[in-house]
Amino acid sequence: MRSHYCGLITEKLVDQEVEISGWVHRRRDHGGVIFLDMRDREGLVQVVFDPDIPDVFATAERVRSEYVLNIKGKVRLRPADTENSNMHTGKIEILGKSLTILNKSETPPFQIEDDDVSEEHRLRYRYIDLRREEMLNRLKFRSNITRRLREYLDNNGFMDIETPMLTKATPEGARDYLVPSRTHDEAFFALPQSPQIFKQLLMVSGLDRYYQIVRCFRDEDLRADRQPEFTQLDIETSFLNEDQIMGMMEDMMRHVFAETMEIPLPNPFPRMSYAEAMNRFGSDKPDLRISLELVDIADVLQDVEFKVFSGPAKDPNGRVAAMRLPKGGELSRKEIDDYTKFVGIYGAKGLAYIKVNDMAKGREGLQSPILKFLPDEAVDAIMSRTGAQDGDLVFFGADKTKIVNESLGALRVKLGHDKGFLEHGWRPLWVVDFPMFEYDEREKRFFSLHHPFTAPAEADLDRLESDPGSVGSRAYDMVLNGTEVGGGSMRIYRQEVQEKVFRALGISDEEARDKFGFLLDALKYGCPPHGGLAFGLDRLVMLMTGAQSIREVMAFPKTQTASCLLTGAPSKVSPAQLKEVGIKIAKPPKIAQ
Ligand code: AMO
Ligand code: AMP
Repeated sequence: MRSHYCGLITEKLVDQEVEISGWVHRRRDHGGVIFLDMRDREGLVQVVFDPDIPDVFATAERVRSEYVLNIKGKVRLRPADTENSNMHTGKIEILGKSLTILNKSETPPFQIEDDDVSEEHRLRYRYIDLRREEMLNRLKFRSNITRRLREYLDNNGFMDIETPMLTKATPEGARDYLVPSRTHDEAFFALPQSPQIFKQLLMVSGLDRYYQIVRCFRDEDLRADRQPEFTQLDIETSFLNEDQIMGMMEDMMRHVFAETMEIPLPNPFPRMSYAEAMNRFGSDKPDLRISLELVDIADVLQDVEFKVFSGPAKDPNGRVAAMRLPKGGELSRKEIDDYTKFVGIYGAKGLAYIKVNDMAKGREGLQSPILKFLPDEAVDAIMSRTGAQDGDLVFFGADKTKIVNESLGALRVKLGHDKGFLEHGWRPLWVVDFPMFEYDEREKRFFSLHHPFTAPAEADLDRLESDPGSVGSRAYDMVLNGTEVGGGSMRIYRQEVQEKVFRALGISDEEARDKFGFLLDALKYGCPPHGGLAFGLDRLVMLMTGAQSIREVMAFPKTQTASCLLTGAPSKVSPAQLKEVGIKIAKPPKIAQ
């Protein structure tokens, strides 16, 4: 039903007969001549109907926006003064000779060209939203990115292998989505949070280089860069060490950026330890485009009378840090109050500051509600460590390390955007040397920082049981402009090490058998050293397209409350269906809208 896509008809086809099929984007009646802008996935083309073929003209008069038409006609140059340089096809038009209405359309719920439609409305009518050029371009770009990723992996000997969706829970740290089994009493499948264990089993099988573009399911609190169902580019290799894996993965990123955007990424990517990232940026996914940094000042504040500072300065789990904001002296009282509220979201109890008016005047040249509590030595040390200059402002965070890092880390990013300390461009990096475990004060136990199959650093193996908190891991995260786009590690491939790690996590031998017996068994039958990683494909595409949320780069995303406005999922099921799977609803489930 077509000889050419609408958007690809150019002056090369002048005088040729063409056939197009598509949607009416716009219809204009110009006193006896009808213009239709016809649209398909490749763009727009203008079609003109003259009254000299009366029945075709009469049909053209009847068409409305979003009708689906088939048109045959002849391509001709537009008169010079009617050329449209904004359109790829703006130099030509089609003189329509036949027109068939393939389907009518009701008036759409919103104009395709309207940029100001609520997200709710867009998700409800996603099939119409996807007609918009912006959405179409994002999906095309996404497809281009996956094509280039596959191209690289194919060229490097990776095999695309599928793994089950109906499976057993694997611990990636989120809640599982469960699927009841009709054929097994009281038993449930879990949808995979990732194919982690299966890809490791494929290495045991000797499949060596695996990849999969795969859906993962995590029932967690949603944010702009989190969805309950999202896509990973999942990768696993055998007999390569972390340097080789990281080298290959960044090479793949350079390939994708070069082929899709002609952007050269650095070679190699810089690497930074977890400890350095936390110290300098308060985050394990620092946005290196932002020049602001945190500095430690606890050592000079241990004995000051200001308890807000001296308390955390003396606490082994506390941190006191300062962050210089160049030209921050211009901040108004209201702005400082707003930033104080902002850090409150992250648990900070306040946001002390010093404005540097005139350093030459000593204390007189500084302005701050806390100055009176600080001795000269402390003030001098703060000024020299932060490198503060006249006109600057220095912010302070003092609390448990986690709170200071999260609050000042987030403030750093916010100030970077608000105050123009954000460079343009692409700043990838690897964050390495993560700790193996993180201690949870509330639950009084250790958790894996990545997942329990991550290999501990060789040198720390003997401390796995005696001092888990001090054990480093062989994990690595790829960070791009402040977003964790991928994460992975070398894996445990010896059964006894895996058992020790389970023990360190407070998982009893019995529970480990029950949950991961199949993995522990597999490790006994010739498991090669292996490692890999997974990229969050949606996040990568979001960054590359400049979209504000991963919902903008998914064809059919869910809302913040994990529902699908298009289909109405999740929804109630019939009593018969419930009976079949042996489930009784104790109280009506609350379904988020
Ligand atoms: P991890 O849990 O770090 O590792 O996930 C890998 C990457 O997936 C992306 N991601 C998400 N994207 C959208 N919505 C979510 N809810 C979401 N959660 C994670 C992130 C993240 O970097 N099996 C391991 C990988 C491995 O060790 O090989 C894993 O899943 O970009
Ligand atoms: P206060 O003594 O509570 O009036 O606080 C004096 C100053 O210290 C105010 O500017 C507060 O915003 C700030 N402040 C209070 N608690 C903290 C904290 N934990 N970290 C950083 N600044 C704080």
